[in-house]
Amino acid sequence: MNLFDKAMGFRFACKHFDPNKKISQNDLDFILNEARRSPSSFGLEPWHYLIIENQELRQKIRPACLNQSQVTDCSHFIILLSRKPHFFTAGSDYLKQSFARNYEDTDALNKALTMFDGFQKHHLKPDLENWAKMQVYLSGANMMTAAAYIGIDSCPIEGFDYNDLENLLSTQLANFNKDDYAVAFCIALGYRNYQQTPQIRYPLEQIVTYIK
Ligand SMILES: Cc1cc2nc3c(=O)[nH]c(=O)nc-3n(C[C@H](O)[C@H](O)[C@H](O)COP(=O)(O)O)c2cc1C
Repeated sequence: MNLFDKAMGFRFACKHFDPNKKISQNDLDFILNEARRSPSSFGLEPWHYLIIENQELRQKIRPACLNQSQVTDCSHFIILLSRKPHFFTAGSDYLKQSFARNYEDTDALNKALTMFDGFQKHHLKPDLENWAKMQVYLSGANMMTAAAYIGIDSCPIEGFDYNDLENLLSTQLANFNKDDYAVAFCIALGYRNYQQTPQIRYPLEQIVTYIK
């Protein structure tokens, strides 16, 4: 078995975390760094990760997440945010600054910005918000695989009320602004305190079609 296969076999949606076991900052940095290496459309990295360590806040978040115990019992509760559409529309500083990382020449930079503007107007609108969220999910998948690679458990969490969670974050956190960010989904990270459940999957023959 190679190491990737081992990590994929280790990962499962952990429902019960050991509340006394904490992830080291070194391990957390590894996981977050691997997540940020994920691919994104035009390299625009539409994600931001809120790492909720504060237990009082987690107690408040839990009811918005269908009262799931992972929210309070995991080591680090991560809320994956996606940038709102205004970051990706013509004239945005974020667009300019992001594209400028790839183009030294101003003409080439302006051409790329015009090309992206055409693309987003014709292909992405009116769904820029979902377009951004889909990419955040990619980085979340890598986050969970990276965690599994170093023996850390995770649970993806989409079982929450978007309005309740976003309203709570905007009242509790000075740096969360609903005009700039949306919650994509959450990931609980930590250590399991029960036996891994079996991975139930359809066989390849059922989900793959070769067109020759
Ligand atoms: C987008 C997404 C949202 C999920 N939301 C929840 C959740 O809110 N609570 C939970 O316990 N599991 C959640 N899961 C876990 C799935 O139920 C689980 O991945 C699936 O049943 C397969 O099991 P496994 O991951 O253990 O192999 C979610 C998974 C994904 C991908």
